[in-house]
Amino acid sequence: MRLSLALAALVPLAFAQESSSSAPAPSGSAVPANGTASGNSTAGGNGTAEYATTVLAALRSANLTGLAGIAEMISTTPEGQEFFTQLQQGNKTVFAPNDQALSTVSEEVSSNNQLLTQILAYHVLNNTYTSDGIATAPAHTLGRTLLKGGNYTLPGNRSQPLVLAKSSNSTNGTSFDLVGSSSNITVTGNATKAANLEIYVVDRVIPIPPRIEEIAPQLVPQLAGVLNTTNLLDPLKEAQGITVFAPNDAALQAAQGQLASLSQENITAIVSNHVINGTVVYSNNLGAANATSAGGAPFTFASNDTGAFVTSGNSTARIVQSDIIIANGVVHVIDGLLVNSQSNPEAAASAASSASEAAATATDTDPTGPVTATGDQTSAPAGQTGAGGGSGAVGLGFSGVTVGLTAVGLAVGLLVV
Ligand SMILES: *[C@@H]1O[C@H](CO)[C@@H](O)[C@H](O)[C@H]1NC(C)=O
Ligand SMILES: *[C@@H]1O[C@H](CO)[C@@H](O)[C@H](O)[C@H]1NC(C)=O
Ligand SMILES: *[C@@H]1O[C@H](CO)[C@@H](O)[C@H](O)[C@H]1NC(C)=O
Ligand SMILES: *[C@@H]1O[C@H](CO)[C@@H](O)[C@H](O)[C@H]1NC(C)=O
Ligand SMILES: *[C@@H]1O[C@H](CO)[C@@H](O)[C@H](O)[C@H]1NC(C)=O
Ligand SMILES: *[C@@H]1O[C@H](CO)[C@@H](O)[C@H](O)[C@H]1NC(C)=O
Ligand SMILES: *[C@@H]1O[C@H](CO)[C@@H](O)[C@H](O)[C@H]1NC(C)=O
Ligand SMILES: *[C@@H]1O[C@H](CO)[C@@H](O)[C@H](O)[C@H]1NC(C)=O
Ligand SMILES: *[C@@H]1O[C@H](CO)[C@@H](O)[C@H](O)[C@H]1NC(C)=O
Ligand SMILES: *[C@@H]1O[C@H](CO)[C@@H](O)[C@H](O)[C@H]1NC(C)=O
Ligand SMILES: *[C@@H]1O[C@H](CO)[C@@H](O)[C@H](O)[C@H]1NC(C)=O
Ligand SMILES: *[C@@H]1O[C@H](CO)[C@@H](O)[C@H](O)[C@H]1NC(C)=O
Repeated sequence: MRLSLALAALVPLAFAQESSSSAPAPSGSAVPANGTASGNSTAGGNGTAEYATTVLAALRSANLTGLAGIAEMISTTPEGQEFFTQLQQGNKTVFAPNDQALSTVSEEVSSNNQLLTQILAYHVLNNTYTSDGIATAPAHTLGRTLLKGGNYTLPGNRSQPLVLAKSSNSTNGTSFDLVGSSSNITVTGNATKAANLEIYVVDRVIPIPPRIEEIAPQLVPQLAGVLNTTNLLDPLKEAQGITVFAPNDAALQAAQGQLASLSQENITAIVSNHVINGTVVYSNNLGAANATSAGGAPFTFASNDTGAFVTSGNSTARIVQSDIIIANGVVHVIDGLLVNSQSNPEAAASAASSASEAAATATDTDPTGPVTATGDQTSAPAGQTGAGGGSGAVGLGFSGVTVGLTAVGLAVGLLVV
């Protein structure tokens, strides 16, 4: 089956900003309550082929013919069979793009079975999720998908998360958002149950986590420019699991005078100071992280009524947008530069090597999530002037503060490697 091909590149940077014209939302419909277990979840005897047949039939009867076509096409490939084997185990939540959404997939993508399988894997959460269990903005929930391995490998063989949140002004509603760095996909309506799957129809394809060089220009344009001209992006691209604190444009503008006079060596040291090498620390775990920068200086984290903060040496910055998922880790946008004169290469090397040892032996203690994460406190938005700069959860007053404090204090070891 070939998809109809239209627009360019699927693999977009953050959620592409096209209008999501046809909201299929049967308005006011309720998301199902926690499973009325109609399908017998993993009913032992079924083989993967039979299972795939069951799923394809369910997709077709829900008018998801495009998705059924893709699923059928990949089901004959080794990676597709592996996908179905995983899909079959335990309860799953599927975000199923409708035919119109799939019509925007480029031929480059639709003819690449491996990539299609990875994209499908990113549309499946490894558990049952309903709006009841999803945090309300500005907090959010990180749901584990089935996407892992290859270009999406994370330390500890963890799978890539999706960021989910309920809108703060619909606390009694049942819809929720798949949160992207610059736009969301809203999930409304009831799920269809098929075997062990809860299937929600969505009207866009969820973008697979971008590489850092793809997202940086839109997220932090000035920083991306600096990194490009100094070739400092390469080490970040190559890192196996990375946490990046990315200063926004306002932060760079404020520091422009100082930066202009710095040598390449000094700039390299400053960049290192914004990175945790070998460890992916999502916002829920910042407080618990044993974090040493790639420059060898320790980070400390704190939160209070005005937000969550990261400190290195004498510099403290506020996290204005957290948990931007990238192929090899996570980016948190901050409103200041972290300058620390006490660079320590030995500590950096030791942190990176203990991170990689930990990753090698780590077992994913909770592969099904969900995990509630901190909110971003952006009541004083720090001038994100750049095109497409995400605005995070804007202007939500203090409603997220308690959640933020709690989550930072949680210190759960779920995602720390
Ligand atoms: C969704 O489910 C609720 C409760 O089960 C039901 O009342 C409602 O009619 C359903 N909505 C749609 C559009 O099927
Ligand atoms: C799957 O969900 C059903 C309820 O819908 C529950 O009874 C069952 O225990 C779940 N299975 C697993 C493996 O979590
Ligand atoms: C097993 O296969 C049968 C028929 O092929 C189907 O009705 C049933 O739903 C399947 N069960 C699962 C868990 O896929
Ligand atoms: C999904 O969760 C199950 C446990 O229910 C785990 O065995 C499996 O490895 C997880 N899958 C992925 C892709 O992480
Ligand atoms: C990784 O990405 C590159 C291009 O970005 C692609 O050529 C390669 O096939 C991908 N590998 C896997 C395992 O996905
Ligand atoms: C995305 O969804 C979250 C949660 O509903 C909301 O706080 C945020 O403002 C949304 N972002 C955009 C760009 O619509
Ligand atoms: C919530 O508020 C935003 C902005 O104020 C608005 O765009 C959105 O439609 C609202 N959502 C609901 C469900 O009322
Ligand atoms: C949500 O709350 C508002 C005001 O409190 C109310 O008007 C509305 O009917 C409620 N919606 C639902 C779906 O309960
Ligand atoms: C991360 O650590 C590895 C192993 O020590 C090293 O090769 C690499 O250059 C480091 N990357 C960054 C961005 O510091
Ligand atoms: C919150 O913490 C930041 C960073 O430590 C600090 O600058 C700010 O004054 C604190 N705000 C309050 C209200 O305590
Ligand atoms: C903090 O500032 C003091 C005074 O300017 C300076 O001596 C010290 O080296 C700085 N510490 C770090 C870690 O940058
Ligand atoms: C923290 O990092 C140091 C140095 O890398 C390491 O020796 C120590 O065991 C780590 N502590 C924890 C709790 O992981």
